[in-house]
Amino acid sequence: MFTIQTLNNISRNGLDRLPTARYATANEVAEPDAVLVRSADMHKSPIAASVKAVARAGAGTNNIPVAELSARGVPVFNAPGANANAVKELVVAGMLLAARNIADALAFVRGLEPGEDLHHKVEAEKKRFVGSELAGKTLGVVGLGAIGVKVANAAHALGMRVVGFDPHMTVDGAWQLSSEVAKAGSLAELYAGADYLSFHVPLNDKTRGVFGAQALEIVRPGVVLLNFAREGVVDAAALRKGLADGRIGRYVSDFPDVDLLANPRVIALPHLGASTGEAEENCAVMVVDQLRDFLEHGNVHNS
Ligand code: MLT
Repeated sequence: MFTIQTLNNISRNGLDRLPTARYATANEVAEPDAVLVRSADMHKSPIAASVKAVARAGAGTNNIPVAELSARGVPVFNAPGANANAVKELVVAGMLLAARNIADALAFVRGLEPGEDLHHKVEAEKKRFVGSELAGKTLGVVGLGAIGVKVANAAHALGMRVVGFDPHMTVDGAWQLSSEVAKAGSLAELYAGADYLSFHVPLNDKTRGVFGAQALEIVRPGVVLLNFAREGVVDAAALRKGLADGRIGRYVSDFPDVDLLANPRVIALPHLGASTGEAEENCAVMVVDQLRDFLEHGNVHNS
């Protein structure tokens, strides 16, 4: 019987893949064999010496001290691609939220009072919410891994012109990019030609601030930024400057920023990209299968 410490709620269908495990919360177990985590920040507390593996039920591993664990010989498992569909769908929603002023329109409707002449008020106000169509606009996708490729293909299906950039992309990679999605020669080229920019890179030293002061100089005025990757991918100072002077028309983010909550150009969601029942189950199944193979047979896959 293995003892696995769970730092977040993990889908039951995933946990059941390892019947030889006893799952316990952080307070219930002092010497777990492994840790199963979703978004809890593991940088903040020591990891018991008994831990032989850490598994993240998601794609990113920036909440885990991977280098420290590697030095201890502890593998870190994750679930690349397992929630890609969920994130893709929310990115499409994010583009539509921005293009059609949906958040403002919903707030207007929520603010209507019973007894008001709704027809009159709606007809008087709806001009404020006139939007634009996605079809015919250009989406630049930064990062063509599992999520970026799905976003690119979905946007293409909506009639957008799609340009992607990923220095690590191999044509025969695991993710199938529609043949009509163009690949930019450089990030600068991608930034200069896009009406919408969506980021799909992990957060690391190479991608921190991948959209920064220089990018702000070359983007189209009014560009819409979509950040469903990680907060640090878009530089905070460049973001504030671009929002203030209108160079950034909208910032749609899955990471609320306390300073920008009331900014009318910002649409923020509470990190919901991977929050579907299907994605949570896919991630849990993928990482618990890896844990089982490691704990029972010593095999290390995908760490
Ligand atoms: C991811 O890295 O895949 C997401 O952050 C997953 C999640 O929301 O838990």
